[in-house]
Amino acid sequence: WVVLDSKEAVGIAAADQISRLLQEKPTCVLGLATGGTPLGTYRELIRRHQTGELEMSRVTTFNLDEYYGLDRDHPQSYWQYMQEHLFRSLPIPEERIHMPPGKPEQVEASCLEYEQEIEQAGGIDLQLLGIGANGHIGFNEPAESLQPATHLAKLAESTVQANARFFASPEEVPQYAITMGIGTIMKAKRIVLLATGEAKAEILSKLYTSPITTRLPASMLHMHPHVTILADREAGSLL
Ligand code: GLP
Repeated sequence: WVVLDSKEAVGIAAADQISRLLQEKPTCVLGLATGGTPLGTYRELIRRHQTGELEMSRVTTFNLDEYYGLDRDHPQSYWQYMQEHLFRSLPIPEERIHMPPGKPEQVEASCLEYEQEIEQAGGIDLQLLGIGANGHIGFNEPAESLQPATHLAKLAESTVQANARFFASPEEVPQYAITMGIGTIMKAKRIVLLATGEAKAEILSKLYTSPITTRLPASMLHMHPHVTILADREAGSLL
């Protein structure tokens, strides 16, 4: 657990971890996240690419999740988010960028395919994560049981409400997403979870002392041997 002064410092610290990995392994496989939290990390990666400090043209990426039912070109799709905030500014060839499909013809087959693609790429070297205010990671919501592999997930009502501000009308807000499972995330060799802002203080303090429970999906990370949690002062204020 590392508590830093500001969200900018969190972005820089996460970019440092990625830079270090890239130095060791220029062909590394990165697991990427969306939401507001990783934006500082992405800005810092782009800056380092532009100044020539970072060579990202040989990496492979897999995103955690995508809304179910949205076309790629829907302005709120995670595909669009990734294009806008990262991919259009980096020289990663499209064939090495992977996102779960938002509108798969066969849900189960494409989820299985996503798992196989991760495996064929040699597994994820570093997975970047945010955390939902209810403790979800990816779109693995608190529940009686958790899914190990990539699957179609029903979003918690609180998640739907948290996302509603990005959509023009309530009917448009997706109720489902395709997400990596807890097992997919746990197989990553290294995990970096980011949390910034006051709104994450409570869940971080819960996570800190929580037993391992499916009611707090991020608590599964207590079992992972190589996790770094980077928080800013606000998110870390109740630790
Ligand atoms: C969404 C994403 C998560 C993300 C979470 C928190 O639900 N599926 O991957 O961690 O939101 O988002 P934010 O970083 O905007 O707080």
